[in-house]
Amino acid sequence: MTNINLNMQQLLAVNSTSRITYVNAGAGTGKTTTLEARIEKIAKKTAPWNIIVLAFNTSIVEDIKKKLATHISAKKVNKMQIYTIHAYALKILSTRVKIQNELLTQEKLIKFIRNAWNKYKKLNHYKKQNRKDSENKTRQVIDTVLKCRENNSYIKQCSKEMQLFYRAFKQELKTSKSYDFARIVKVATKYIPQSNTPQYIFVDEFQDTSETRFNFIKALVGDINYLFAVGDEDQQILEWCGVKNNNVNKLSQLYKEEFKEYRLEYSYRLTNILAQKSNQLLSMFNNRISKTLIGGNKTRGSFQIKKFTRTSKEVSWCKDFIYHLLQRNIKPQDIAVLYRCENMMSTDIAKMGVYQSTIHKAKGLEFEYVILIGVEEGIFSRNDEAIEEELRVLYVGMTRAKKGLTITYINNKMRKFNNGTYKQVKKSRFLEYLK
Ligand SMILES: Nc1ncnc2c1ncn2[C@@H]1O[C@H](COP(=O)(O)OP(=O)(O)OP(=O)(O)O)[C@@H](O)[C@H]1O
Ligand SMILES: [Mg+2]
Repeated sequence: MTNINLNMQQLLAVNSTSRITYVNAGAGTGKTTTLEARIEKIAKKTAPWNIIVLAFNTSIVEDIKKKLATHISAKKVNKMQIYTIHAYALKILSTRVKIQNELLTQEKLIKFIRNAWNKYKKLNHYKKQNRKDSENKTRQVIDTVLKCRENNSYIKQCSKEMQLFYRAFKQELKTSKSYDFARIVKVATKYIPQSNTPQYIFVDEFQDTSETRFNFIKALVGDINYLFAVGDEDQQILEWCGVKNNNVNKLSQLYKEEFKEYRLEYSYRLTNILAQKSNQLLSMFNNRISKTLIGGNKTRGSFQIKKFTRTSKEVSWCKDFIYHLLQRNIKPQDIAVLYRCENMMSTDIAKMGVYQSTIHKAKGLEFEYVILIGVEEGIFSRNDEAIEEELRVLYVGMTRAKKGLTITYINNKMRKFNNGTYKQVKKSRFLEYLK
């Protein structure tokens, strides 16, 4: 990492003397790299346990550890507290609260909400609805509860009925001694004032910090600790769980003169063509603070959009394409096939050893070649309401590529999912912006 010569803007951020520093910049501009350089700098003057780094997912946690270990001894890096927010919150709780029941993962939480809702309806003598209406309502309730878990203020805009149910749901969590991720973070937040918190707090992908997690970080920072956070509002992709695009404002209002924001513009990852396409896509946002990406990666990049008539044809084309890349000695781990949803992945492609995941899970990562599957209406733009969020998901997916980006879609035909179901799809309107 310090083999890299940081540019002027990065250096200014690394050397920030403010208590609260935020680096606000686009994809591949070196935010995480800047964060790592700052950690190195701080590690020279403080004990490793006094440093905490909160990252978005475990692959970024591992990546940061690996990069730091090239310049700081592994022993020292291991003593630093590098975690996902949930893992760190669990650590705070571990000495104080005994979590008897298994942790509610997302899937289990959804089941839990469903059961709590059925119980609530019975208790309140709800009239029986037909199956479709009842299922629609249940889904709406689940959506709302998920949002409220990460964003408490959301409940205030909800119906009286929803407010009453949410209260009952929270009670149910307590009486059954169950913990979902949000409850872990909320309870941990309460214990922070009595904990021996590290003095230097680093946060990657800050744009996806929900209200619940923001409160946790705020408690860690307190009145004297230092915060160094990096993020890109255009890559905020967790609106479905209540994350809203206003973290920078929240920071500047909360910390006022102690807050300083830095910008980076030069994207080392993106080639000229991908920076240009990303800018075109971003210009579609309403009310966006203008941020233009400059493609700094001088390799000759490629960009192509491929249309298919059937899922099987798309898969076999991808296999051929990947095969050719492998023939050219591109390593399988430098090739990523990214999907909007989990159930679009292909076992055939998995056999080729390339990186396959949802776009959400690939956040913060980069690959030489990226194939983005299924940029279609029905997959990417599912409803008009969340259209900007879908645009951001596409932006995150596109900007993972260092060299070649391929986008695929099926037009006016059925797409087959790996659970055996089909869905009518057509070319996404977003592709018009990428011409
Ligand atoms: N000053 C620099 N000189 C050369 N390469 C750099 C420099 N800064 C960053 N890079 C490289 O640019 C790429 C992107 O950096 P990094 O992952 O830190 O960006 P990011 O802003 O965190 O991206 P994302 O928005 O996807 O999280 C990496 O390969 C990194 O090594
Ligand atoms: Mg990053």
